[in-house]
Amino acid sequence: MSACLQVFARLDAVQRAAAEDFRAAVAQAVQLRGAAHIALSGGSTPLGMFALLAESPYQDAIPWADVHVYWADERCVPPDDPQSNYGQAWQVLLQHVPVNPLHIHRIQGELDPQIGVDAYAAELARQAPPGQVFPCLDWVLLGMGADGHTASLFPGQVNPHEADQPVIVVTAEYQGRPAQRITLTPLVLNAARALVFLVAGREKAGALADVLNGPRDELKLPAQRIHPPDGTVTWMVDSAAAGV
Ligand code: 6PG
Repeated sequence: MSACLQVFARLDAVQRAAAEDFRAAVAQAVQLRGAAHIALSGGSTPLGMFALLAESPYQDAIPWADVHVYWADERCVPPDDPQSNYGQAWQVLLQHVPVNPLHIHRIQGELDPQIGVDAYAAELARQAPPGQVFPCLDWVLLGMGADGHTASLFPGQVNPHEADQPVIVVTAEYQGRPAQRITLTPLVLNAARALVFLVAGREKAGALADVLNGPRDELKLPAQRIHPPDGTVTWMVDSAAAGV
């Protein structure tokens, strides 16, 4: 794994850098393999990046017809719920770009959670190369909570299936958000070619320092579970989160 930390003075610079990194990763994937399989996360930090991608130059420069969109996690709510990660991405980005609707592989948060897990796992398998059960994701956007969680992998919780199942149900309280969630596991995330964490705000400085510089404690700090053997991890953070 190669990891790097990029610190920017302000959140808008983080979002611009992430948009450019996304564009470059998609261009390379499409050139080499004819398609780009990317996964988004929810939360507020990526919203500015989504908005940038929905307008020029990115709206025109990215081969959206060759992009497959997945989610790292989803809250167990309907797609039109304000708390839906898919709904947020659709409102701010996807409805504004010419992505093929058949290439939007959302997690069906409106279903019974285990049914939603099974449906997403089946969709991942349909998109996978022969003999595989999920596609190798070219670019994954991740956030991190002030508690060190990422996607819907939360402190103090280790599902026994994290290592052998691509998708699991999680129940976790965080900032009043829906507690029931569906998440990709490290099995899928650590197979990705590139993962980009977007982290901003002083309230995350402690967790970020612990995750990057503290002792390994994957139970306490789930963001430390992200260590792709062959992929890259890039932390794009603002100065407040970096504590500088
Ligand atoms: C979710 C996200 C979650 C998010 C972090 C950071 O469904 O809530 O996937 O992992 O990325 O909680 O959220 P903020 O960007 O709002 O701080």
